[in-house]
Amino acid sequence: MQTLRVAIAGFGGVGRATAQLLLSRRERYRQVYGVDVRLVAVCGSRSGLADAAGLEADRLDALKAGLSGPDFIQASGAEVLIEAGPSDFRTGGPGLAYLREALATGRDCIVISKGALVHSGPHLRDLAQASGAMLKLSGAAAAALPTLDLLEHSLAGCQVLAVEGILNATTNYLLDAMINQGLGFDAALREAQAGGFAEADPRNDTEGWDTACKLLLLANFGLGANLTMDDLVVDGIQSVTAERIAAWRAQGLVPKLVGSLTQVGGEVCASVGIRTYPLSDPFAQVNGKNKAIRITTDTMGETLAIGCGVEPLATAAAALKDLEHILLARAARPA
Ligand SMILES: NC(=O)c1ccc[n+]([C@@H]2O[C@H](COP(=O)([O-])OP(=O)(O)OC[C@H]3O[C@@H](n4cnc5c(N)ncnc54)[C@H](OP(=O)(O)O)[C@@H]3O)[C@@H](O)[C@H]2O)c1
Repeated sequence: MQTLRVAIAGFGGVGRATAQLLLSRRERYRQVYGVDVRLVAVCGSRSGLADAAGLEADRLDALKAGLSGPDFIQASGAEVLIEAGPSDFRTGGPGLAYLREALATGRDCIVISKGALVHSGPHLRDLAQASGAMLKLSGAAAAALPTLDLLEHSLAGCQVLAVEGILNATTNYLLDAMINQGLGFDAALREAQAGGFAEADPRNDTEGWDTACKLLLLANFGLGANLTMDDLVVDGIQSVTAERIAAWRAQGLVPKLVGSLTQVGGEVCASVGIRTYPLSDPFAQVNGKNKAIRITTDTMGETLAIGCGVEPLATAAAALKDLEHILLARAARPA
């Protein structure tokens, strides 16, 4: 039986959930793909663990100091890297060095953090193309909600005219609370933070940056664009007042923070901001922590997906969906 060695860089909530789920699916990988998938290395910022024979679930709490970094992952011999470190789109974050090294040496990469992909997406795409490595990013591009899969597979061959997405769960939750309770932004945020539904520093979500990152990934990796953050017009929900909420309600409109792409004559334009929808529009019904995407194409009309999963398991599952695509593609390669 063939062996496929996998390493995980970034071993917090999502990295650990991915490791556990991968180990629980090893029998499936043997049966469906005839491949013995081994987790050969994991690491956080300062510690890690490696074993060429494969790590088991009961050893993953005993990371050893000093075992970290792209060279450590490279030395593990992994053919596939899953990158789940912190996201920093302004610098690329620690993931950038891991991904550069892995892609340059022809290792397939499954990326969960958005930072490196937003900062250096076209460069990483070029590295992958040059080395023949596969670069997959479902976990970074709205995770449990299928987005890139729809563009790559379900709508293959169609010309995409427009993409609209409710891509950030926290802002959707906050807008819902504002509508249902007639609250302004500050009051809704205080309530959400007290309930653990928003981060202590929520600006990445509320100012629209998280949505913008996901939108940029859809543009660059789904539509083949070469956008940078400077090309996007980004607005958030921080200026929504109780008065604006009341006015929308009176008109039967529901506000959503939406990332939108339009493609005209091969040029992709992207923006993030509030849009309002009548109650009859499916986007008006996307409640709580749900996300949604609507893709309009020349030949298949409108396609809509709405999804939500319990984190971090849902993101881990999205990353391992990418692993299944890699297993399929490897199986199809000539021996
Ligand atoms: N949480 C979610 O539901 C969700 C959903 C979709 C996408 N994501 C993305 O998934 C990523 C991980 O999220 P998380 O919730 O798991 O975050 P987290 O719990 O903060 O974990 C981040 C991990 O990255 C490690 N790290 C930091 N610098 C590193 C370096 N130089 N080399 C190797 N590892 C390094 C940290 O190590 P230490 O422990 O040593 O500091 C930690 O293990 C983020 O980019 C996030 O945006 C998360």
